[in-house]
Amino acid sequence: MAALTLVSGSVGLITLQNPPVNALSSAVRQGIVDTVQRAVSDPQVKSVVICGQNGVFCGGADIKEFGKTMLGPPLVPMIHTIEAADKPVVAAIEGSALGGGLELALGCHYRITHSKARLGLPEVTLGLLPAAGGSQRLPRLIGVPAALDLITTGRHVTAAEALKLGIVDQVTDQSTVEAAVKFALSVEVQSLTSRRISTLPCPCPADVDALFEGVMQRVRQRGRGAIAPVACVQAVQAAATLPYAQGMEREQELMATLFTSGQARALQYCFFSQRAVSRWSLPSGARWDSTKPNPVTKVAVIGLGTMGRGITVALVQAGLSVVAVETHEQQMMAAQRAVSGMLERLAQRQGVPLALDRVRFSTELEAVADVQIVIEAVFEDMALKKQLFKQLSSLCPAETLLFSNTSSLDIDHLAAQTDHPQQVVGMHFFAPAHIMKLLEVVYGPRSAPQAVATAMELGKRMGKVSVAVGNCRGFVGNRMLMHYLEEALFLLEEGSSPESIDQALKEFGFPMGVFQMSDLSGLDVGWKVRKAQGLVEPGQMSRVRQGRRYSPLGDLLCEQGRFGQKTGQGWYLYDPAGSRTPRPDPWLQRFLEQYRARQGLVSRRIDSEEVLERCLYALINEGFHILHEGIAAGPEDIDMIYVFGYGWPRHRGGPMFYASQVGLARVLQRLEHYHQLHPDVPHLQPSSLLRQLVSSGSPPIQRWKEAIRKPHSAL
Ligand code: COA
Ligand code: NAD
Repeated sequence: MAALTLVSGSVGLITLQNPPVNALSSAVRQGIVDTVQRAVSDPQVKSVVICGQNGVFCGGADIKEFGKTMLGPPLVPMIHTIEAADKPVVAAIEGSALGGGLELALGCHYRITHSKARLGLPEVTLGLLPAAGGSQRLPRLIGVPAALDLITTGRHVTAAEALKLGIVDQVTDQSTVEAAVKFALSVEVQSLTSRRISTLPCPCPADVDALFEGVMQRVRQRGRGAIAPVACVQAVQAAATLPYAQGMEREQELMATLFTSGQARALQYCFFSQRAVSRWSLPSGARWDSTKPNPVTKVAVIGLGTMGRGITVALVQAGLSVVAVETHEQQMMAAQRAVSGMLERLAQRQGVPLALDRVRFSTELEAVADVQIVIEAVFEDMALKKQLFKQLSSLCPAETLLFSNTSSLDIDHLAAQTDHPQQVVGMHFFAPAHIMKLLEVVYGPRSAPQAVATAMELGKRMGKVSVAVGNCRGFVGNRMLMHYLEEALFLLEEGSSPESIDQALKEFGFPMGVFQMSDLSGLDVGWKVRKAQGLVEPGQMSRVRQGRRYSPLGDLLCEQGRFGQKTGQGWYLYDPAGSRTPRPDPWLQRFLEQYRARQGLVSRRIDSEEVLERCLYALINEGFHILHEGIAAGPEDIDMIYVFGYGWPRHRGGPMFYASQVGLARVLQRLEHYHQLHPDVPHLQPSSLLRQLVSSGSPPIQRWKEAIRKPHSAL
């Protein structure tokens, strides 16, 4: 797991060997301890170079070992031994030096880096802090403000930035190992006194207390309840104010509280889930590893409204040629301006050339005839989309893939309009499409595995977290969200206010509450959908529609022209018009009071626990239905959809992970309780999968898939 060879007569070259990223597993740590000891005691060896095999220095601690019994030598003394060595030790960094990998490099006396390498201490993103001395050495090396930035955000820096910050001593474009060996030979007789970072004083700015106060405030605000960023600040504060040995004690103390926290478990679950969702499979048995995606160079986008514009920009950013089609002249002009503006700003920010020549705008549908993929993003209107798919089917060659960005319509109905239904797949982007990371790839019963593979691959090229899901109304994300929204309305009817519901959800960790979110997306969007479903009865106050409890509150607001931010009024007031800051609206309070009086509803005080339980458990319950029906392949798929598309706090792992942490028995019991109180609300009736999991002893989330006995087709 680590090999030692003698090179250039006197340099001991230690190579870490643990593919794919040379993570510091117990075997690798043991290998390092052994090889360092041999190198240090070998009189032929005058200096040491540590590198990683296959072009990667080290991806850090082995995350798979967390939560298991610790085996092998610990990192801290291992790094101390390297730092204390009386022969120069040089880290040769290629690929990545992250987390424990960078901490190992900081224990070395010199760091030589390839120009394409990336360095960072991303522990915070896993709910931890750099606890192998990283929080104590980095501030000593690069100063408190820069170290605070890197450690509290976990961001990776390029080799050039690392050189500028003083993390590395040299950057090379050539062979890093050769450069490091040459460097090692040149410093073999130099004193190491000033190279042992732990012995250096920590350079602090004069106003260090104010600095920590300000950073702590920002970190708390940004973290939305995450504990690791706060502990990271405290650890760096220890580096700034305590001698190294005491700082290390503080680092270990803080790490001990983080290591076993639910947040660390949630964040590590997210790390693996984000990677797991790319390994999709279909009910037919087709899988990611046995299906080759089509090669794609040219894509068409049809409909250049909110979504089409963002999708066009994201495609261009991914290096593809785009034919952008919009049939309405005025919209076309506005879209051209908007797309050019977005691309210009991105090019400026990223310091890359403007790629506007990769987009061809057209008002003619015929312009799409020579692309490999068409992405449709016209109005959410089934008749319009059906008509368009029919036209596309006769315009495009048989091998062209036809994707729809619909957020709720049946993919199979669209496929049925074409001569090649196997070529049709949903590609559900989220607004703004060039920024939001989530992509739901929706397969219908007739979608070909190759079409799904191509959509997933395209999503990956566009930098999205793509999740393959089955076809049903609202797919996964919006289908679950519907019940979350509905519960919030029922709570309003029963006595709550938009402010108190939103506050409870923000305290849970959402970036904004449900009413603020609805105002942002526009209340008219859901109104149109409900109208299409025959749920809206203008002017009617009835609270039962289609045999179940219904709240007409949203419809009543829309009838008053209150669509949210865009009209300056919705659940909140936005004043002046166009402002994004919600203010409580006294009109709404009176309106709610009158509504309750007319409905004979007695207002009661509702605490935040009930708000969270009803909104979140209703959403989670739908997640269990979705799992049971095979619409999502596993809980990780649902969780990644919520973390990347709906602002679910990552440190809570996603709704299904959260349910597993709360305890499935507890979730079931509370749903039963609420369903008993509200028997006319079917979404509060616990799902049979939830009952089944509880009766089989609430297995850990990794084993839920085994418990989902019935395949999709059997339901
Ligand atoms: N421990 C265990 N496994 C790790 C790992 C680690 N520190 N880092 C990566 N892996 C695994 C991934 O889970 C993945 O496994 P899979 O193929 O079974 O899904 C594989 O290595 C490749 O990782 P991936 O992220 O897909 O490759 P990449 O080339 O896109 O990125 C890294 C490489 C190192 C930049 C990225 O994996 C990363 O950021 N790793 C975590 C680094 C970190 O946080 N270290 C601190 C640990 S406290
Ligand atoms: P939008 O109203 O902003 O834009 C639709 C565009 O399509 C308009 O510019 C319109 O002129 C154009 N159009 C209509 N018919 C056309 C035709 N036959 N040929 C070419 N262009 C045509 O709508 P949007 O918000 O961008 O939504 C588009 C699709 O994306 C819908 O299916 C919607 O459900 C889905 N979606 C929207 C969001 C969102 O937040 N807005 C999120 C995800 C998915």
